[in-house]
Amino acid sequence: MTNRERFLAACQCQPVDQTPIWLMRQAGRYLPEYRAMKEQHGFLTMVKTPELATEVSLQPIRRFDFDAAILFSDILVIPEAMGQPYEFRATGGISMAFAIESAKQIEELDPGRIRDHLEYVAGAIRLLKHELAGKHALIGFAGSPWTLATYMIEGGSAVQFQKVKEFFFSEPELFHALLGKITDAVTDYVEMQIEAGVEAIQVFDSWGGICSGNTYEACSLQWIRRIVAAVNGRVPVLLFAKGLHSRIDDLAATGVQAVSVDWTAELGKLRTNAPASLALQGNLDPVLLNLAPEIVAREAKVILDAVGGRPGHIFNLGHGISPQARIDSVEALVRTVREHR
Ligand code: CP3
Repeated sequence: MTNRERFLAACQCQPVDQTPIWLMRQAGRYLPEYRAMKEQHGFLTMVKTPELATEVSLQPIRRFDFDAAILFSDILVIPEAMGQPYEFRATGGISMAFAIESAKQIEELDPGRIRDHLEYVAGAIRLLKHELAGKHALIGFAGSPWTLATYMIEGGSAVQFQKVKEFFFSEPELFHALLGKITDAVTDYVEMQIEAGVEAIQVFDSWGGICSGNTYEACSLQWIRRIVAAVNGRVPVLLFAKGLHSRIDDLAATGVQAVSVDWTAELGKLRTNAPASLALQGNLDPVLLNLAPEIVAREAKVILDAVGGRPGHIFNLGHGISPQARIDSVEALVRTVREHR
């Protein structure tokens, strides 16, 4: 099997010759060649220039031969394209140009600008497809409407998420209008990525886990379901939902092909309890990659043994890779997954 075939088969729970592997945020501060490019061009220029975004996407594939490549971009290009730009705080985290508070601000957001404003993403996908030459699968992605709304309403990275929760409970009509607009934008964006050639879509519901249990449907799931329905099986959809593996049945009911789980899940048990047709992606604790190769190999084996080769496992981290990740430990991880029987 080629790397590409292995990844796409696992998304559909079909048998594979080895467990496929790629890492979330595989592009990032742990790679010297990424740091050098970022030093020269800056993050947003790399995101907006198809040649640079293609190069950054390929860096980890060249080094580690992952089965799938993920497009280098960011989930926050959606608010930016709708009229709410962002930047990185000097102290870490994200700052939006303003916080959404009023009906007027929501009215002014324009989901009709996606294809024009994000044409550079389609450009990067076309270049990447050419470079990958059918050997590695290409994953596109988007933030879930709820996760994007947290940044848009909080005005940036949040700690307590009070503003977005208060907004949901006290302004139900405005919340509905805002999430409807974001969902339209994300749907159009995902359509554009599929037309440009991505072979899977990962939806990041990174902040779904902060909702109260009885509001997760209204806050997040209903909007994700609309996006999955629009994709309509053309490519597999993988849903990363941090802190939500106990709701695996609700996540599966959105119609996605795979759920990407964080490191707090016991993957073997989850495999037993989850629907057999649902692929599972995960779930090594990213902190392990900061440690020695022997430790990473040992802990990766624990996960692989627990899943026991049952179909529909894509090896990944439980969240994005950290800047302190050791390259020799990433290499050990890939070797361990490839050699596991
Ligand atoms: O895996 C990949 O490399 C694909 C590209 C990708 C990036 N961001 C590039 C990036 C993907 C899939 C994302 C998703 C993303 N972006 C999410 C959802 C996933 C998650 O982490 O839960 C979120 C919430 C964002 C928004 C965002 N972008 C944050 C919170 C940050 C960190 C800000 C900080 O404090 O540094 C980013 C920056 C970012 N996006 C980096 C990368 C490689 C690091 C940039 C750098 O410092 O070089």
